[in-house]
Amino acid sequence: MRVLLVGGGGREHALAWKLAQSPRLGRLVAAPGNPGVARHAECAAVRDNEIDNLVALAKREGADLVVIGPELPLSLGLADRLGEAGLAVFGPSQAAARLESSKVFSKDLMARYGIPTARFKIFQDAAAARRFCRELGAPLVVKADGLAAGKGAIVCSTLDEADGALRRCLEDGAFGAAGRTVVVEEFMEGEEASFFVVTDGTSALPFQAAQDHKTIFDGDRGPNTGGMGAYSPAPVMDAAAERRVMDEIVTPTIAAMAREGAPYAGVLYVGLMITKDGPRVVEFNCRFGDPECQAILPRLDEDILPVFDAVARGRGLPASLRWRPESSVCVVLASRGYPAAPKVGDPISGLDAAGALPGVNLFHAGTARHDGGLVTAGGRVLGVQALGPDIRSAVARAYEAVGRIRFDGMQWRSDIGQRALGRP
Ligand code: AMP
Ligand code: GLY
Repeated sequence: MRVLLVGGGGREHALAWKLAQSPRLGRLVAAPGNPGVARHAECAAVRDNEIDNLVALAKREGADLVVIGPELPLSLGLADRLGEAGLAVFGPSQAAARLESSKVFSKDLMARYGIPTARFKIFQDAAAARRFCRELGAPLVVKADGLAAGKGAIVCSTLDEADGALRRCLEDGAFGAAGRTVVVEEFMEGEEASFFVVTDGTSALPFQAAQDHKTIFDGDRGPNTGGMGAYSPAPVMDAAAERRVMDEIVTPTIAAMAREGAPYAGVLYVGLMITKDGPRVVEFNCRFGDPECQAILPRLDEDILPVFDAVARGRGLPASLRWRPESSVCVVLASRGYPAAPKVGDPISGLDAAGALPGVNLFHAGTARHDGGLVTAGGRVLGVQALGPDIRSAVARAYEAVGRIRFDGMQWRSDIGQRALGRP
């Protein structure tokens, strides 16, 4: 099969790495890819928001399947355009991708269909929003409606902070159009998990869960990022929790999307809070999580290409997937200044030594080639992933590899996987 993979981050490197292992893969082209993806695919210099150029590339390549990694092209309708051109696509339609691209859409859907989530209201007017904050009491969460690269949810521990967040979104335009409408919602207590299902619009195939580490600093402190590390399996998602999530959230959401005339096909990312009253939705995303994907895929003991192909053609989804029993950890190395103002262009060293460790994969996110060497080219630079017989050894291996990599201003969390380690 000829496959076009859209995207150029760490998630897409993991997808390319996994697709490249498929005996059914003939040719893999990535747009735009990155230096890590380039080891498994031919990279075409087309960015993920160039919808016309991506459609033309897919046609030119005679792609049998297009796999769309990031949310941006999905929110711009790339899957629809490829479908109109007669191509098979793994990734939801623009209407279905609203589950991620509009928090107002997803919260409203959950409210109407009784899908468990935090209590909320939607505002464009700051004064009315401030009144609702006082009704809820702190802590609470203010969220920009639109896409904001994982930074649009502001957890406020005081009403003063909530007022500041509302001012930034509604009055200062800090998130542009994406923040002109906000969701204000109650803060949910519990432990988070990232749970993915692939679905053809009717049935859903669960992946093993992961746990992400969203904030920049150890101990869950500091501002939210796109994700600073992940591990899988996540002990908080035991079999009982998974059953409840499938019955109370996934199945009704897929049915709701079909009823709304926007059937959902692709991977559905369910961001969960496991509260004392059961699992509740923090957010939906319309793509694999990054860096959760880099932690999970090395555990998948199965060819992923037929799974994506079955979703794209709406038939033949297997009943379940085989998983390796090992644990997996992915530690993100970020550049100086991330998440506010990442500095780029710093030379990276030590990758060969780190990659030589057994059970270690280095997934490139924001890297670029420069003068024959590798330099930083984004906020999140690399994902250092390791498998181990248990979470403790996977963590130890990943950090041994991290210790071999250097670049100026390198930031990383030293507590990835701690929650699982702290369990009895
Ligand atoms: P989101 O962009 O909606 O995924 O939110 C980013 C992060 O903010 C989540 O992963 C949580 O850590 C936190 N968060 C968002 N909404 C809530 C909520 N209602 N209660 C507690 N934490 C939340
Ligand atoms: N790691 C969180 C996300 O992909 O949205």
